[in-house]
Amino acid sequence: VDTVAADEHQGDETGTPNGSESDQTPAWTVEAAGQIELNDANTIPIIRRLDDSFPGLHVWDTWPLRDRDGSVASVNGWSIQFALTSPSGVLPGKRHDIAEIRYFYSREGYDWHLGGPVFVPGSAKGNRQWAASAVWDGDSEELFMFYTATGRSGNPNDPRGEGIDITYEQRLALAEGTSLQTTRQGVRITGEWEHEIILTADGEYYQTQEQAGDGIIYAFRDPWYFEDPESGNRYLVFEGNTPLEPGEANCEAQDLEPGDYSSGVAATGAQFNGNIGLAVSTSDEDMSEWELRPPLLEAICVNQQLERGNIVVMDDRYYLFCDSHKFTFPQGLDGPDGMYGFVADSLQGDYEPLNGSGLVLANPADQPFQTYSWMPVPYDDNQIAVLSYYNYHDLGDDTLTGVGNLPREDQMAKFGGTFAPTLVVELDGASTEIVDTLDGGFLPSENSNPPIDTM
Ligand code: FRU
Repeated sequence: VDTVAADEHQGDETGTPNGSESDQTPAWTVEAAGQIELNDANTIPIIRRLDDSFPGLHVWDTWPLRDRDGSVASVNGWSIQFALTSPSGVLPGKRHDIAEIRYFYSREGYDWHLGGPVFVPGSAKGNRQWAASAVWDGDSEELFMFYTATGRSGNPNDPRGEGIDITYEQRLALAEGTSLQTTRQGVRITGEWEHEIILTADGEYYQTQEQAGDGIIYAFRDPWYFEDPESGNRYLVFEGNTPLEPGEANCEAQDLEPGDYSSGVAATGAQFNGNIGLAVSTSDEDMSEWELRPPLLEAICVNQQLERGNIVVMDDRYYLFCDSHKFTFPQGLDGPDGMYGFVADSLQGDYEPLNGSGLVLANPADQPFQTYSWMPVPYDDNQIAVLSYYNYHDLGDDTLTGVGNLPREDQMAKFGGTFAPTLVVELDGASTEIVDTLDGGFLPSENSNPPIDTM
């Protein structure tokens, strides 16, 4: 590993690297991230192993069907959520290569029934589909799925084979459909969708795969729909990277031996240039017309991946959240796999890190990979309910760089791939606190039942 310690090489006190033109973009600084510390307010309780709710299936990133205004949708009394899924017999590290979006429905918000795949295999953009957000227009009864089109269809290398090179290009796509049916027994999503690529990385605000080099060391993914209550404008928030010229930031690359990070995404040559991207809708009628805007936040020299960016507006404040991994911080910064957050008084405001450091939710120190991919929804006054999935258990820090090197049985046995308990987090200005742990996969909506407390 040949990473220059980030804190020795800051361009200025704000953590903006020398020569960077990111003056206007708020920064998650090395100084702030250097204050990351686990405590009672941010540490997720140890959770017991959950029953396998969907035999034969692993689930990871999840997202609820939401109304245009961001509230959790209730369609004739049903809550609906979506998740990336794979057959549970597949090695956990391999699942990203064959991810498929499935839907689930529930009356109460926690007794989830598996609906099925959302798209007809092979019909969606990309070689496979990654995380996403789903919008329900109750007036027109239209369903909009913004998703990541990963790789290219027609890829000569079948990703379903073991050990085959597949590509990681990421583009943002939209699927529009009108085929959601509810009965007293359940929910069906069937029929045709119209698929379209709506945004690709521009190489200016957002690094392209070509600029980043080979491998999974760049991101242009996880589109999340947002209507700003202040302006009424529609936005997409997403995970991106800021292009850096060689020498622009002294912390820019890590030089790992191939295979060091077999469990994860960071790789030789990865730059610490994560951002939370923004695009604005340019049409009142058409949900497929978007224009890129400068990122909402950058983490130059702080982190390579700000995943699944999203916003909760509460008390006139804009809370911007994302997820990140321990292994995507550079040497010299020690942050857990956790949910991070920032607050500003407008959408494109001057985001300040919550709790001083940005850390909102952390896996416990002795179960550092217990859960991941936190996704909040508004809950009670000043509270969010945060969904996530059960990731790895009993995987110590020492295996951080080598999950893929463990014996196959270990990899399989230690991976959860189920919904994790929903966490309730209180937001008090710029501070946050975990106040409750609820049933696995619990999603609050206007008609969800009081959840079961699993603490
Ligand atoms: C987070 C994530 C997302 C991506 C998905 C791929 O867990 O890395 O950013 O869409 O997983 O499986």
